[in-house]
Amino acid sequence: MRKIPTGGFLSPSKRTNSMGVQAEDTRICVIMVGLPARGKSLIAQKIVRYLGWLSITAKTFNVGQYRRSATPNPSAEFFDTSNPEGERLRRAAAEAAVGDMCKWFREGRGLVAILDATNSTKSRRRWILERCQAESIATLFVESKCDDEDLIMQNILEVKTTSPDYKGQDPEEAARDFRERIRNYEKVYETIDEDERDLTYCKLINVGHQVVINQIRDYLQSRVVYYLMNLHIRPRSIWLSRHGESQYNLVGKLGGDADLSSRGEAYAKTLPSLVQKSAGDRQLTVWTSTLKRTIQTARFLPFEKLEWKALDELDSGVCDGLTYAEVEEKYPEDFAQRDEDKYNYRYLGGESYRDVVIRLEPIIMELERSENILIVTHQAILRCIYAYFMNVPQERSPWMEVPLHTLIKLTPKAYTTVEERLKADIPAVSTFREKGSRARGNTIGDGAKPLSPTAQEDAKGLGLGLAADGKPVMGDAKPPPES
Ligand code: ATP
Ligand code: F6P
Repeated sequence: MRKIPTGGFLSPSKRTNSMGVQAEDTRICVIMVGLPARGKSLIAQKIVRYLGWLSITAKTFNVGQYRRSATPNPSAEFFDTSNPEGERLRRAAAEAAVGDMCKWFREGRGLVAILDATNSTKSRRRWILERCQAESIATLFVESKCDDEDLIMQNILEVKTTSPDYKGQDPEEAARDFRERIRNYEKVYETIDEDERDLTYCKLINVGHQVVINQIRDYLQSRVVYYLMNLHIRPRSIWLSRHGESQYNLVGKLGGDADLSSRGEAYAKTLPSLVQKSAGDRQLTVWTSTLKRTIQTARFLPFEKLEWKALDELDSGVCDGLTYAEVEEKYPEDFAQRDEDKYNYRYLGGESYRDVVIRLEPIIMELERSENILIVTHQAILRCIYAYFMNVPQERSPWMEVPLHTLIKLTPKAYTTVEERLKADIPAVSTFREKGSRARGNTIGDGAKPLSPTAQEDAKGLGLGLAADGKPVMGDAKPPPES
């Protein structure tokens, strides 16, 4: 019986994450700075999602939420610094948030906390710095500075008029009050400047048109800063598609570098019109893996194409070219262990989903920098990219069903990503195997239809058995192994 290597292999050390960061070394408080409606909460939320995707536990402490428990619907006067009661309540909210954050760190619940508030005066920032230093928590101040009045008004209308602060109020009145709130903050706002040179900070000016960084000290801080430098808020969408059905899919084999089946070819031919339906006249860039099935699928698309090795399918090592049933028969323990912890399970000589996420990180950075991109890739890769945008937890992402012959459109909006799916009218097998289910071959995706005559030819060419009704007999032709 073969033993599965563990420790940084099957089950990576709990003390390190996918970036290899040591838990004890790095506890960072990211302190947002800036006037209201400068995208601070959005940036905070994106950092949490990005780090979470990389297995680094991060959490936002939003001072507004603490303030809201005492003052749910304040008007602009509440934020006037000459209002002592407002000052007292706002200070209490900040103290409660910082207190909870320190407790969260002390309990070892995560590595990165984001203190989301305006933190708009030097004295407030100094106070936070001292609180963090007393707890040996490193700090990274992130200031978003923006003087584009149109953009600020757009932000107010997009997210502030629907904020719980203005629940049940007229949106126009809410926008007017919010402008007034900003004016109150402007009276005391101090941007991070020369006399705060001892702080570790990153200043994003006009959504990253200019970035100023100072005293970045460690790896994790530099990763966060690099991520922030790549963000933009121009409207765009990202399209994701698996390759068309492949010859390997027909027989339920994993991995390989097979050609498309005839139905996969049909999908490749349909893809340009499917994309046109979804993207209109937008000029896209197409990214594929270096494997034949994605390149063949993308070849009729009238756009610039780039091949990325990082988009190649999860490497199934010694199981490459086997069906799930063959894996279960040859490596029953591995088969069971993969079901037990699919995200961390690393194929012998191959990869885990965790490994794939690490190699996809540059792809995510590039996607954040880019505008309209169509990615034609593979089941496991698509799951990981989708999980990043849709914030799907690790334990669930490897089990997501991502059908063949389906175009997914993701449109990032403030705080959410909108998803649309367009299904091509071309049947394909389903390569999805549910957790805990017996290994069997791929099932026909369009219900119980027999394969078309051409698909039957494809199948015969591959030595695949066909039942009398024309349906393929796949991996489950062999009896299941005794357990
Ligand atoms: P508040 O202090 O009231 O909580 P905020 O600064 O947290 O405000 P958000 O609620 O995050 O502001 O505002 C989100 C809006 O800001 C979105 O419409 C988003 O497009 C926009 N936005 C995102 N990043 C930036 C940026 N760097 N500069 C200006 N606006 C941005
Ligand atoms: O079956 C198609 C496929 O792309 C294989 O090449 C790959 O091994 C598999 O999907 C990944 O999916 P899962 O992680 O669910 O086995």
